[in-house]
Formats: sequence, structure tokens, C-alpha cells
Amino acid sequence: MTVDFETFPVLSSGRLEFRELSLLDVNEIFELRSDPELMKYIPRPMVNCKQDAIDHIEQIHSLTARNEAINWAITEIGQSKLIGTIGFYRIKPEDFRAELGYMILGEYHNKGFITESIRTVIQYAFYTLGFNSIEALIDPENIVSARVLRKNGFERDGHIRENVFWEGKFLDTEVFTILKKDLKKLSTP
Ligand SMILES: CC(C)(COP(=O)(O)OP(=O)(O)OC[C@H]1O[C@@H](n2cnc3c(N)ncnc32)[C@H](O)[C@@H]1OP(=O)(O)O)[C@@H](O)C(=O)NCCC(=O)NCCS
Repeated sequence: MTVDFETFPVLSSGRLEFRELSLLDVNEIFELRSDPELMKYIPRPMVNCKQDAIDHIEQIHSLTARNEAINWAITEIGQSKLIGTIGFYRIKPEDFRAELGYMILGEYHNKGFITESIRTVIQYAFYTLGFNSIEALIDPENIVSARVLRKNGFERDGHIRENVFWEGKFLDTEVFTILKKDLKKLSTP
């Protein structure tokens, strides 16, 4: 399959819109990626200053320009403020597969927003882009993320021991996967 994000795919769902990240989102990206609670299970460098947040946004833009990843800003319908992000990283067109990642500001947790976001982007990935499978790689202690994945049709495919070296420690990873053919098993959120 081929992936082409030259025209950015703006998406929407019942309560949310999914648009391209912009440099106007720098404060919210800083808020998300500098919060130790939100970053606790994400083995990626924390954002320490506004310039780090700008660098992060620019890195996403260059990955998308190369069709290697895509990241949406999640907003409430009719509002421009970014409340979270969701996207596909490590897109592997040769396997019709990509890795899903997401996070949302603490004040918006437990409202079903990431559930709504996952359902929107996986529909897009399976039916518009043509993926066959999507994986999510999570810290085994991230029980909220595991809960969210299971309730959205992902199944636990396995546990990889000590495959990530992060901040002086070897970390395990849980692999969750959804296949295109699993989608019809999902009920409405
Ligand atoms: C994981 C995350 C994205 C979930 O977002 P969200 O919008 O709150 O998710 P939803 O509202 O769709 O669903 C949350 C579910 O977790 C459940 N939950 C919340 N806290 C929980 C806890 N401590 N233990 C078990 N389940 C919990 C909720 O009850 C809800 O399930 P339910 O609908 O069956 O009741 C959010 O917590 C987050 O941004 N975490 C930090 C970043 C992160 O870890 N990202 C994932 C990296 S792989």
C-alpha cells in the first residue's frame, strides 16, 4: 500500500475534530509533554521548555511530510484549543500496519474522548488508508491505556521482555493489536 498525507486528512466525530498540529498549539503540547503524570508510561524525552515543544511539532510535520507518521490535534467541535493528540507512528506500508499513540490533558480524562478518537482514526486507517492491522505498544503498568484498548476492540497479542532501554532501565512492553476484520465486532461507543 502507499500512504500520502500531502493533503492533511481532517477528521471529525460526534464531539471532536481532528486537525493538523500547528505552532499555535505550542502551549498545549508543552502542557501535555512536560507533565510527569501524563508522560509516566511514555518512554520518550519530556518537553522541558517551549522550544522543545516547537521542535516536537516540527518533527511531527517532517515525519508527516515523508509519509512516515501522522499526528492529529484533538479539539472539541467548534473550538481551536488542542486537548490531546492521537496518531500513527512507525507506519509500515509493506505490512499494511502502523503503531497507534495518544494522550489527552488531565482535565479531559474519563469522558470517553480517547475512545471516540481511537474509533475515528482506526476507521480512517482501515477504510481510507487501507491498513490491515494497528498495534499499540504500552507499558504493562499502564492499566488505563490497556482498558481503553480492550474496550475499543484491541486484543493483547503478547508481552515483550526488556525490549526498551529507558533512563537506565530495561522496560517490558505489552503489545495490543486490532485487525481490520475485528472492526465489525465493535459496538457503537
Ligand atoms: C490513556 C488515556 C489516553 C485515556 O484517555 P481518556 O479519554 O480518559 O479515555 P476514555 O475516557 O476513553 O477511557 C478511560 C477508561 O479507563 C478507565 N479508567 C480510568 N482510570 C482508571 C484506573 N485507575 N484503573 C482502571 N481503569 C481506569 C475509565 O473508567 C474508562 O473506562 P470505562 O469507559 O470502561 O469506564 C489518558 O489517561 C492519558 O492521556 N494518559 C496519559 C498518556 C498515556 O498513557 N497514553 C498512552 C500511551 S500508550
